[in-house]
Amino acid sequence: MNRIAVFPGSFDPITVGHEDLIRRAAACFDRLHVAVLINPAKPGWISREQRVALIRKVCADLPNVQVDLWTGLLADYVQALGGAVVVRGLRDAADYLSEARMAELNRRLNPKLETVFLLTRPEVAFVSSSAVREIAVFGGDVDPLIPPAIRSDIQSIISQQ
Ligand code: PNS
Repeated sequence: MNRIAVFPGSFDPITVGHEDLIRRAAACFDRLHVAVLINPAKPGWISREQRVALIRKVCADLPNVQVDLWTGLLADYVQALGGAVVVRGLRDAADYLSEARMAELNRRLNPKLETVFLLTRPEVAFVSSSAVREIAVFGGDVDPLIPPAIRSDIQSIISQQ
C-alpha cells in the first residue's frame, strides 16, 4: 500500500516545530508532500517561493519528502494528488479548537479527506512562525526557533528587510 500524506501550512518561515513534525510524519508514510498554502488570515513575511526553497533545504536528507506550492484550497490539492491523509500538528488546546474546525471544513469540501494529528513535542510547543516574525522585527535572536540548516538564510533575509 502506498500511503501518501500532506503536511500543509503557511511556513512563513518553517520552524524547528515544523521540522520535527515533518521528520516524524515522513517516518509514518511512504510519501509526504509538504505543501505551502495561503492562509488568508496571515500577512506574508517572506515570499512563497522563498518558503519552498527553505523547506527544501531543511528536508534535503529526506528522500520521501516533496515540497509543493499550491494557491488554492487544501481539499483541491488533496484531490489533485489522487487522495492523501492530511497531517497537522497540535501544540495545545487552542490549536485543537481551530484544527478541529478546519478538519471538518476540509471534510465537507472533500468527504474522503481525513486529517490526522501529531502532538508537538513539548520542547518545541512554544514555537510558532508568528513568534519568529515578531522577534525578527524587534532585532531579537530567532536562531533557537529556526532549523539549523537555514539559520544563515534567515539571518540574511532579516538583514535585507
Ligand atoms: O500554518 P498555518 O497558517 O496554520 O496553515 C493553515 C493553512 C495554510 C493550511 C490553511 O489556511 C489552508 O489550508 N489554506 C488554504 C485554503 C484552504 O483550503 N482553507 C481551508 C478551508 S477553510
